[in-house]
Amino acid sequence: MTPPLCIERLSYTWPNGRPALSHCNLQIPAPGLWMLVGSNGSGKSTLLRLIAGLLTPRSGHIQASGKVALVFQNPDHQLLLPSCASDLQLDLPAGLSEAERRDRVGLALAQVGLAGFETRPIHTLSGGQKQRLAIAGALASGASLVLLDEPTALLDPDSQQAVLELVWGLSHRAEAPLAALWITHRLEELQRCDGAALMEKGAVGSWQPGPRLAGQLDPLRGGNPNR
Ligand SMILES: Nc1ncnc2c1ncn2[C@@H]1O[C@H](COP(=O)(O)OP(=O)(O)OP(=O)(O)O)[C@@H](O)[C@H]1O
Ligand SMILES: [Mg+2]
Repeated sequence: MTPPLCIERLSYTWPNGRPALSHCNLQIPAPGLWMLVGSNGSGKSTLLRLIAGLLTPRSGHIQASGKVALVFQNPDHQLLLPSCASDLQLDLPAGLSEAERRDRVGLALAQVGLAGFETRPIHTLSGGQKQRLAIAGALASGASLVLLDEPTALLDPDSQQAVLELVWGLSHRAEAPLAALWITHRLEELQRCDGAALMEKGAVGSWQPGPRLAGQLDPLRGGNPNR
């Protein structure tokens, strides 16, 4: 199987001359939930923007095997239209019939636990529901690689857990599981991933079991670092 994502020697410098990525290598070997952690300014968001095609690398290669979607920390920054269905329509690929568009929107809503929410005004949704709608947009677009930049940072603990379980489920479903690349500062989330890596100074380390990396970063909370 082709890896969902393969990045080789990726470098990027902001127009003001500040380097953000430096010979960064990263491979997502298979669908699943893959997490990145790293201190402020280590280059995590810049990396996701490069993968999503919002920035152009200075050098290096990015190869994604399918369509890519990006989910931001704050869903208000990506939900644009007033109702759930009208917003999801924006994400659909071109060339679908009216019936196909309706079916696809209904299916995407159902897959994130928002079945029947087509006409709901977005401003009436909770933060967690908005984030799930943003994930529905990724599904409606047909993306196979979903990049999530601190998707739970603004959520209460229950919604945080629900969004994490949703993405875990979508990336482990029997049919067309997603590859999800999830950035977090919340070390407890590393308990629920297929692999976790540390980003430092514009480069990503190798994949490790999430609990082990959490333990290295915070031995008091993450458990035994030698596991
Ligand atoms: N628009 C920008 N213009 C110039 N420099 C930027 C810009 N955005 C980020 N940077 C710089 O690029 C580097 C990497 O930033 P980035 O936002 O990717 O880090 P991050 O790991 O996502 O941090 P955080 O955990 O705080 O979100 C930092 O030095 C940052 O100051
Ligand atoms: Mg960031």
